Parts: sequence; structure tokens; C-alpha cells
Amino acid sequence: MNKTKFLFVLIKRIKSSLNITVLWCGFCCLLLIFIFPITFNFTLAAESLNPENNPGELEIFSWWTAPGEEQGLQYLMDSFQKEYPHINVVNAAVEGGAGINAKDVLKIRLLRDRPPDTFQVHGGAELKDTFIAGDYLSPITDLWQAQGWRESFFSEIAEMVEVEGEYYSLPVTIHRANRLWYNQNIFSKHDISPPGTPRELVETAEQLAEKDITPLALSSRNLWPTTHLFETLLAAVATAEEYNSLVTGEKSWQSPPVEETLKYLQEILAYVNPDHAGLNWHQACERVLEEKAAMTVMGTWARGFFNARGAEKGEDYGAAVINSEQPVFLLVVDTFALPAEAAQSEYTYRWLEQAAEPRVQKKFTEILGAVPPHKDIAVEELTPGIAEDRKDLQRSQLVPSLVHGAAAREVFISALNEELNVFLYENEIFETMKELENLAEIYLR
Ligand code: GAL
Repeated sequence: MNKTKFLFVLIKRIKSSLNITVLWCGFCCLLLIFIFPITFNFTLAAESLNPENNPGELEIFSWWTAPGEEQGLQYLMDSFQKEYPHINVVNAAVEGGAGINAKDVLKIRLLRDRPPDTFQVHGGAELKDTFIAGDYLSPITDLWQAQGWRESFFSEIAEMVEVEGEYYSLPVTIHRANRLWYNQNIFSKHDISPPGTPRELVETAEQLAEKDITPLALSSRNLWPTTHLFETLLAAVATAEEYNSLVTGEKSWQSPPVEETLKYLQEILAYVNPDHAGLNWHQACERVLEEKAAMTVMGTWARGFFNARGAEKGEDYGAAVINSEQPVFLLVVDTFALPAEAAQSEYTYRWLEQAAEPRVQKKFTEILGAVPPHKDIAVEELTPGIAEDRKDLQRSQLVPSLVHGAAAREVFISALNEELNVFLYENEIFETMKELENLAEIYLR
């Protein structure tokens, strides 16, 4: 080979090997840019759920500590634990119905960047005006889309956790606030029919008082049960339109439906147990079971309480609805949300996925006494009382509960609780209407 030819061959070889190197580099870059992150993420996700690599913790925050709700939460935790035995599930529940204490603890933790991995929050105004508006949550829209939840849940319920196309939590119960529970034996023995309207409630109370039976068990220790009684009466007195325009602040609270409601409240408060300030909601239910009072007005979590006590519907207790002429469903929805600063969102995603499974929702809500938000659970599969609520959900006027976070901002509810508990002692109808109107002006408009 002469010198020129040798040089030519050498240059050609270098060129072709350069081409191969360039190709290789390009290929490796592609790998780095596209393939590696996917695999890496996948491996990370898999590894973070792998017992040997990371025995993590999942902290569940709620206020489900009363009989019935406590067992429901335990069922949810156990079924998750079965699927993910290496994850240590921590129950961080704080006692107090309607989250009266839990919400304070939660806010401190969120403000200090020490959130639980997931927490119980009411769908509607509470979720939207406090937690979404305050940027405390991560949206879980990707999970909603991946799981097809928009189609799985009742649309009215899905809307309660959605803002501008983003979904922020998972509905796990639908409770009905406007229910009345009574002692079956007292009612049968005295041949009393369960009341179905505010007027009948007062008349039944009169009948019972004549027989020296405490007509209605009230528990005002945590203030909210007084408001619960008020909103149950209001939803029966006002039309759904009037109710909605009151809770949004469009309608004046110095108006006929509020006056009528307060009159009923005044009448019925004459028939409650004098020691109400010492009781919480389930102690009031206990009074009914023990025949120390004939009735109590409470949400469907009372059904969970009675069942946990081993009481039988139709034998030990009965259930009625306080309605207006139109059937009303005073709506309460519990959900689980993902805090923005949660350490293990991967675990929280798994928690939410399993809490949404129809099989799990059916059992969980059965223990709690609620209607499952998942539509795929057939009404025939539900226990009779829950099936009745599920049917009513679809054929009644739905109005959002104030006390249980569906209708209005939390500051309004706290002020309302105080005002109605002043009413409990002072019974001033017109003064209270004036105060309620002031609150609406400050907080709702
Ligand atoms: C409600 C909640 C129910 C039940 C009830 C009594 O606010 O939505 O699930 O916990 O309080 O604690």
C-alpha cells in the first residue's frame, strides 16, 4: 500500500468510527432522556413499596373515634394493611364529633409543614374554601383520570371535590344529616308513630312528656349538635331554593323561614334533657338505647353507632326522616385528601385507590351507616336503612349541611355554633335572627 492510499484508508476508518461514536452518543442521550427516567421512576415507585427497601409509614388523620366510625376506620386500615403489609399504617385520629378538635390539630400541622399522609375532610365548602384556597393540598386529578372516578361517583358528589377541572380528594361516605332516631320499645309500648315533620316532632315530644319520658336527647357539649338540630329543622321548613340562598348569603337571615325554624327550635328545646351540656353526640344516642330518652336528631353515623352497640333496627331502635312536604336529603360527604407537603404521596395514592374500591367502600360505609359514593354498588347489596337513604339520595331535594362543612365557610359555622348555643339558653328569636344576619353579612357575602 502506498502512503497516499494508507492515509486515505486511515481517514475513512476514523470517519466511520466517529460516525458510530456519534450514533452511540446519540443513542445513549436518548436513553438518558427518555428511557432511564421512566425505568428509574418505575423502579423507585416499586422500590418505595418494596418491604426490604423501605418499610414506610402511612399516617391517616381523621376524627373517627366514636363507636361505629372507629370500627369503620379500623376496617379500612386493616384492608390496606393486608395488601401492603410492609407499610406501617398509623391511626392519628383525634376525638370529637364533626372534627371539632381534629380540625384545630390539623391546621397546626399543616401550617408547620408536618402534615399527615392523608386526612379526612368534608367535601364542599370546607375542602374548597379552607384547604384548596389555602394551597394546602395536591390535586389528585391524575388518579381520578386513571381510575375513571368521574364515571364511578355520583356527579353531585364529584363536584364537591372539584375546582376548575382539578380533583382534590376522594369521597368515601355520603351521610344524611336530617335523620331522627328513636327507641323502638318506647314507641311500640305507647303506640306512638315516628314524626316526619318539625310540627310532628313537637307534637310527639308533647305526647312523650305527658308520659314522663324525656322526649329528645340533645348533646350540646361540642356546640355543633345544637346547630345540627337547627339545620335539620331549617331544611324542612325552607324550600331547597330558600335554604340554598340562605347558606350562600343571597337571602337575608331576617326572613320567614329562619323565624319559623327558630320557633320550632324554641318549642323543641323545651323537651330536651337538662344535662345536654355534658354530653357528646353518641352519649345522646346512648340515652335513646338505654330508654333514658325517646328520640335524638343526628346524622346517619348514629346508625353506625347503634349497630356497633349490637342494637337491631325495628327491635331496639327505629329511624325516621325530618322532611318538609318535599323529601329532603341534608347532605354530608367525608373525603380523604392529599396534603401538598405529604412525604409519601406514593403510599397515599395506594390508600386512596383501595378506599375507592367498591368492595371496600361497601363494607366501610356499612359499618359507618353511610351510603357509598361509588355508583357501582347496587342498591340491592346495601342493608335496608342504607338502601333507603341511597334511593332518597336520587329522588330527594339535596341540600348541603352547614355544620358538616358542605355549605359554607368554616368561620361562619363556628360563629353560627356559638350564636345558636346562646339561643339554647336565651331563646331570643328576633335577637338571634339579627345576629345571624350580621354573620351572613360578614362571612357569606
Ligand atoms: C361528621 C362526619 C361523620 C361523622 C360525624 C360525627 O362531620 O362527616 O362521618 O364522623 O361527623 O363524628
